[in-house]
Amino acid sequence: MKPILILGATGKTGRRIADKLQARQIPVRLGSRSATPAFDWNTPATWAAAIDGVSAVYISFYPDLAMPGAPEAIEAFTGQALAAGVRRLVLLSGRGEIEAQRSEQMLQRSGADWTVLRCSWFMQNFSEGVFLDSLLSGTVSLPVSDVGEPFVDAEDIADVAVAALTEPGHVGKLYELTGPRLLSFAQTIEEIARASGKPMRFEKVTMPQFAAAMAQQPAEIVEFLQYLFGEVLDDRNEYLGDGVRRALGREARDFTDYAQRVAAAGTWGGK
Ligand SMILES: NC(=O)c1ccc[n+]([C@@H]2O[C@H](COP(=O)([O-])OP(=O)(O)OC[C@H]3O[C@@H](n4cnc5c(N)ncnc54)[C@H](OP(=O)(O)O)[C@@H]3O)[C@@H](O)[C@H]2O)c1
Repeated sequence: MKPILILGATGKTGRRIADKLQARQIPVRLGSRSATPAFDWNTPATWAAAIDGVSAVYISFYPDLAMPGAPEAIEAFTGQALAAGVRRLVLLSGRGEIEAQRSEQMLQRSGADWTVLRCSWFMQNFSEGVFLDSLLSGTVSLPVSDVGEPFVDAEDIADVAVAALTEPGHVGKLYELTGPRLLSFAQTIEEIARASGKPMRFEKVTMPQFAAAMAQQPAEIVEFLQYLFGEVLDDRNEYLGDGVRRALGREARDFTDYAQRVAAAGTWGGK
């Protein structure tokens, strides 16, 4: 059986997809800079070895499909995969980002057997991502109002990706993957504090205060977060998607389940 190439294989979704496929005895090839062979979005010469001989690809771009140059990278990668004989391509995308939607269109027009997973903010940003350090410090300071976001569990994204990579019925489908509830950032911090038993609080700050507090992060990441908080997180995304139900025939996992699971693992300290 040919392997399935998982890009972003050590990240929030890729790691889970690889684990779930391997648990089903489906061979995977890990794709990231630390994998062998190494795959680097910034070095197209590394792509051919990763693509060679695979049956399908899970495409997770880094750092984000909304970054300039992403649609061109997706177009070039898709073309190379198709030329190498790979037809089944599943793209991880984000809601409310024009650049990300351009990348989706590149894939949809490519002639591949495509599936698009258009996701809301991941719950795992609070436990495996950029907000973990400030949560551990007890205060999360963000330039965001009480806008509601339907945070999605990366476990659900992985379940949908596995289905799309291995089962019939998902070709030509665009799934909007969200959680089952709109939550403000203040509410997510309350939920995490309750689950972990640790005092944590949300604080609204201005954009310059936020940028100054993030100064130790890479400049492109800070710039990107400013774009997300300044432009993407308005009320245009304040609705629930039905992608988990359409793809899997079940409801999406709730934030409370996620918070209790992560708290029980000790990630946030406390209990
Ligand atoms: N986080 C969210 O809330 C969210 C929401 C919607 C959509 N998305 C999309 O999810 C994707 C992943 O974002 P994430 O922040 O959650 O990251 P992530 O998948 O948790 O982690 C990054 C992964 O990419 C790999 N990587 C880093 N730089 C790379 C490079 N130059 N070339 C190849 N691989 C590289 C890393 O492995 P190595 O270090 O080994 O290379 C790691 O496996 C983005 O395209 C984003 O648009 C994210």
